[in-house]
Amino acid sequence: MTDYLDRIGAGKILLSKEPFSFDWTPPSLVGREKELMEIASIFIGIDNPNVSARVTIMGPVGSGKTVLAKRFSDDLIKKLEGRRKIVSIHINCRNYSRTSQVLHQIAMKLDPRHPERGFSAGEIIHTIRRNLNSHNIHLILILDEVDVLIRKDSSDLIYRLLRIDEGQNDKGYLSLILISQELSLMNRFEAAIISRLGMSNVLKLEPYDENQLIGIAKQRALLACKSGSINEDILSKIGRYSAVSGDARMCIELLEGGIRRAEMNGMDEVRIEDIEPSQFRESSVEPSQIDGLLEHQKLVLLGICRRLKKKDNLFSGDAKKLYILVCEEYGVKAKGHTTFLKYLKSLEIEGLIDTETVNSNTGRGRTQNITMSNSSPAELENRIEKVLSRY
Ligand SMILES: Nc1ncnc2c1ncn2[C@@H]1O[C@H](COP(=O)(O)OP(=O)(O)OP(=O)(O)O)[C@@H](O)[C@H]1O
Ligand SMILES: [Mg+2]
Repeated sequence: MTDYLDRIGAGKILLSKEPFSFDWTPPSLVGREKELMEIASIFIGIDNPNVSARVTIMGPVGSGKTVLAKRFSDDLIKKLEGRRKIVSIHINCRNYSRTSQVLHQIAMKLDPRHPERGFSAGEIIHTIRRNLNSHNIHLILILDEVDVLIRKDSSDLIYRLLRIDEGQNDKGYLSLILISQELSLMNRFEAAIISRLGMSNVLKLEPYDENQLIGIAKQRALLACKSGSINEDILSKIGRYSAVSGDARMCIELLEGGIRRAEMNGMDEVRIEDIEPSQFRESSVEPSQIDGLLEHQKLVLLGICRRLKKKDNLFSGDAKKLYILVCEEYGVKAKGHTTFLKYLKSLEIEGLIDTETVNSNTGRGRTQNITMSNSSPAELENRIEKVLSRY
């Protein structure tokens, strides 16, 4: 009766789910060597007492802001073991968006016995400072999505935190890493805060490029999956799909979704058709976009979709053959080669396919490599078939 549960934990592909959990930090970062060096240079001298640092990390969604801050602080703590006692606390201000909540979290993480309520912000700050002092701890405080806090509660907390470090004998307690997606964060701060944070200590992360995303997917696959269960084609498809946004989270979700689909089907290897864009991205192609295509554009696209359901790419020569087959199926006369190429181009302009001119591996000429990163071929195939049957 419970046979349907057998697949759970069968682990035909997945050896460990942990690398896919949301707060897992990879042992090393792919393609962020320069950025890690940059933070390290901002933290220069941190092995000495009385020294603290401030850095603001900014960048678009999934550019690795959180993981960069966590990887850096964990590495630093390890590196300075026996030299300086450093503790890091990560607080996501989306979950704790009031000054009092953030302070309470800090106090509690330093001392779990810290009472739930009854203290003013000033008193909690005093307790935090006393705690750091008596245990000789340097705190790296990571305030993630700090723009949420600043929008709600102004920048008062940042100001007060920065001042923890400014007494005569109070230097070197606290380093601050602020994280925000919003590039205009600095505009929200008063001059007094900006000068303390240091304008030059702002690290801007770029979205990941295709190769970096392939590297990120590969790293997770190696850490989480049986060897040989994820091949290079799968990784490049994931890289290409997620390169549209440069978002590492999307790249990891595509991999995880593919593994889930393959395991659900009892496979011990992820197949190219298991990698599907998320619901959200599927809907990025509106049905009306298909409706608005000319009949032969639909026929060309239908042939392409049928192949891309099973394979990662196809060449224009194959697309042409598939188009002729589809025309036969629907009882229409196929257009000539030049018109076919014109339709191919127009599908690319519509954002339905991607093409790239490459050297042909048969013959001497050039051909077009066709891929699809904006939509799911199976979904599109369905829609086109429905629309065509209405004629
Ligand atoms: N360079 C990298 N190497 C390996 N994994 C990475 C790298 N960058 C990001 N990741 C992974 O991608 C996912 C998203 O990264 P992260 O949460 O750090 O992005 P973010 O910039 O903080 O996004 P958001 O703005 O949504 O908070 C995480 O699972 C993270 O571990
Ligand atoms: Mg983040």
